[in-house]
Amino acid sequence: MRLVVNGTSHEVDVEADMPLLWVLRDEIGLTGTKYGCGVAACGACTVHVGGVAVRSCQMAVGDVDGEITTIEGLGNPQALHAVQAAWAEHQVAQCGYCQSGQIMQAADLLSNIPDPSDADIDEAMSGNLCRCGTYPRIRAAVKTAAAKLQEA
Ligand code: FES
Ligand code: FES
Repeated sequence: MRLVVNGTSHEVDVEADMPLLWVLRDEIGLTGTKYGCGVAACGACTVHVGGVAVRSCQMAVGDVDGEITTIEGLGNPQALHAVQAAWAEHQVAQCGYCQSGQIMQAADLLSNIPDPSDADIDEAMSGNLCRCGTYPRIRAAVKTAAAKLQEA
């Protein structure tokens, strides 16, 4: 089947019920998206499909309907996405394992709610777990990114 990932078309020879996460990591080689729980309970595997955040561990590749964006395609080193830039500014990451999923979820939040309240942030991010406890810095970085996007 054909998948468009980060603007590039890929032909993959896989079963339709293979989770999108494994196709991205093992077939296409995009390992920025992480495996945490495999049961849609941690958010580490979050990517965008058709611009909407999904848990790629629980989406069969045959059900993908739209272009896929992973952390590798959200921005680039010359032009970071506002969420990525805010993450760097606030030094959000500790071990980093959950962070690509956090960033993809936060980007989805800001595309739906440009000026989120603390409650909006907590609700939108509540399915993205961080064993290192970076939640206060995540909230601060989301607010910084929201302000930057509104200036733009
Ligand atoms: S690995 Fe997909 S939600 Fe945890
Ligand atoms: S930064 Fe370590 S799990 Fe979130």
